Amino acid sequence: MKAIVYEQYGSPEVLQLKEVALPCLKPNEVLIKVHATTVTAADIMMRTGKPAIGRLYLGIKAPKRTILGFEFAGEVVELGSSVTLFKIGDKVFGGTTTLGCYAEYVCVSEQDVLTTMPENLSYEAAAPVTGSAITVLNFLKGKANVQPNQKVLINGASGGVGTYAVQIAKYLGADVTAVCSTGNIDMVKSLGADHVIDYTQADFTKNGVQYDVIFDTVSKRTFSECKNALTPKGVFMPTVLNGTLFFQMMWTSIIGGKKVKSSSTGLLPAKERIIYLMEIKELLKTGKIKTVMDAHYPLSQMEAAHAYVEKGHKKGNLVITVN
Ligand SMILES: NC(=O)c1ccc[n+]([C@@H]2O[C@H](COP(=O)([O-])OP(=O)(O)OC[C@H]3O[C@@H](n4cnc5c(N)ncnc54)[C@H](OP(=O)(O)O)[C@@H]3O)[C@@H](O)[C@H]2O)c1
Repeated sequence: MKAIVYEQYGSPEVLQLKEVALPCLKPNEVLIKVHATTVTAADIMMRTGKPAIGRLYLGIKAPKRTILGFEFAGEVVELGSSVTLFKIGDKVFGGTTTLGCYAEYVCVSEQDVLTTMPENLSYEAAAPVTGSAITVLNFLKGKANVQPNQKVLINGASGGVGTYAVQIAKYLGADVTAVCSTGNIDMVKSLGADHVIDYTQADFTKNGVQYDVIFDTVSKRTFSECKNALTPKGVFMPTVLNGTLFFQMMWTSIIGGKKVKSSSTGLLPAKERIIYLMEIKELLKTGKIKTVMDAHYPLSQMEAAHAYVEKGHKKGNLVITVN
């Protein structure tokens, strides 16, 4: 099968299209013919091996798993001997921490974050759900417990996480303020944002408004900057923690009204993430949320796709079409 292989950390050129053997199917796995996968900020971190702490999992000097890609949508083409939950021909989507989705076929455990696709969804719209939409539900519902009429601000509202965040915050009944640049204002309004702030023209931390939740999907702001823009029991939620934020998260969990909360969604047990996936599936099925898609790239143009995502200005999600 064709796959994008990387044998060293580095710039997008380390990603090479190669012919490799089909993955070996274990008894509890299904073999999926991949139709769509994605390139996310997490893939960029895995390709570069930065921050270096990630190498404890990926491999210290070189990647142990040489095929990246954790999100997929595709069709079940073979079943392991003990599989009971799926059948051949099922259209499925999900994500796997064992990676390998930058390929024509991937093996995924039936106990992993995997489910059948709603009929109204294309492979391209289904592939980005596991990384971004589940993260949003984990943050806004799981960690912040957003309630109707609360004021929620989404910083980075035009990105992969941000576009789902605007819609899911609306679904939870919040009054939503989206922060993006001038060119993305119409797009985030179309997703349901009640208010939009253009970050090139105004600073949301200085407009005198206080929010119950500030979800910094792109981790561009600090807790100190946002503190005055939080209500007395407000929560600041960055998607990526540095040392200072980690300390502030620990400290505010013990004392003080305003909190820092975060989570590594991909590290939650699959049985927790599948519950979120089932809720997202229902929202997609009923049209309450949709996937915003930036450009599509074919598998052979993975290098260009990585270079584009690395610039940090994609709109919604970047999908790779495979088969
Ligand atoms: N903790 C977790 O469980 C978890 C899970 C998934 C992802 N993440 C992390 O979440 C982060 C975001 O991922 P993503 O896929 O949403 O990123 P992304 O799609 O690559 O973000 C790009 C978007 O960010 C906007 N942006 C750039 N600079 C901005 C600024 N200063 N203020 C406001 N918006 C700005 C861009 O808009 P403009 O072009 O207008 O600037 C663009 O639309 C990544 O760091 C990822 O690693 C964490």
